Amino acid sequence: MRYVRMPIEVESPEQVGYDAIRYNLCESSMRDRTVAELGLDLDVGRMLLLYGDHRGHSGLRALLAAEGGCDPDQVLLTTGAAGALFIVSTTLLEAGDHLVVLRPNYATNIETPRAIGAQSSYVELTFEDGWQWSVDQVAAAMTPRTRLVSVTTPHNPTGVVVPREQLARLAELVAARGAHLLVDETYRDLTIEEPAPFATTLGPHVISVASLSKAYGLPGLRLGWLMTRDPALNERFLAAKEQIFICGPVLDEELAYRVYARRATERPVIAAGVAAGRAIMRDWIARETAMEWVEPAGGVVCFPRIRPDAPVDVARFYAALTGDHRTWVGPGHWFEQHDRYMRIGFGWPTADELRGGLAAISASLRAATL
Ligand SMILES: Cc1ncc(COP(=O)(O)O)c(C=O)c1O
Repeated sequence: MRYVRMPIEVESPEQVGYDAIRYNLCESSMRDRTVAELGLDLDVGRMLLLYGDHRGHSGLRALLAAEGGCDPDQVLLTTGAAGALFIVSTTLLEAGDHLVVLRPNYATNIETPRAIGAQSSYVELTFEDGWQWSVDQVAAAMTPRTRLVSVTTPHNPTGVVVPREQLARLAELVAARGAHLLVDETYRDLTIEEPAPFATTLGPHVISVASLSKAYGLPGLRLGWLMTRDPALNERFLAAKEQIFICGPVLDEELAYRVYARRATERPVIAAGVAAGRAIMRDWIARETAMEWVEPAGGVVCFPRIRPDAPVDVARFYAALTGDHRTWVGPGHWFEQHDRYMRIGFGWPTADELRGGLAAISASLRAATL
């Protein structure tokens, strides 16, 4: 494995220091919550810190399995969705293997296959196409050596949601070519409408990955999962998990179970938060003449850009934004794109913080206009 640190991690708020930031518009999750805010009736003192079930908390797995059309033993809890993605990539790919992956993307979906030495073909998403991709584009990128096709929906950083029918056609294509389909659904619950069932329902060759980090504002729990209906593949994933972690943290898994068990009451609150943040963004974009966007259909991030014809010095813009306004967005290079693009997170800040951060972006654009 050839590990390289990714800019999105090196420059992340937790590494820069949250205190250094006034308006944090670079998070992709809802606001982080305290244990007290979760309001759980949990007697931590009585919890036995034994080695837990290697697949993870059976109650949580049963809840997830019901939404993924699979058996609880076909769900594997992991250290965040990141842990699941690592297990999937290192299990399915070896040096020289070919995969097809969307770009831009959550950096790990691109970087881990690279670290393995796999050969990636990118489906390059563009602003002009509304960040959409087609099944034909994926088909054209596949080769006889393709082992894995990797898509993300709702997508990071653009917020594009792949229609169910398109995902089903993709699953058919990938099955016909004898490969596996990874669907990173980490933002699944961050939609206004009730989301579709987990992608595992589309076939035994489909692997679904998600976590509680984003929608539930719990990234510090490090609680994610992968699911697949292929029993042999499941055993390999479990072998990988056992060799890395043996099992997950029992305390965190119990907390996660308690929160996810009340998903029905959490979901409307999440949906309202998504709608409220998106409305503030929409209002600002309509007024900010130097920016344009593709409105996201899911998640709490969007990937607008400084208009190509806006005479803005991009380096000066970021210097003003971070230096004068202590405001953080996710610059394009976090996603291997030009820095005229930026990811703005609208779920994590309060409404006032979001408006303050957007005003700081506007002021920095003016300060950097040539
Ligand atoms: C698409 C996607 N997948 C996975 C992850 C990792 O999330 P987690 O905190 O659950 O490890 C992220 C985090 O930003 C993400 O954007």
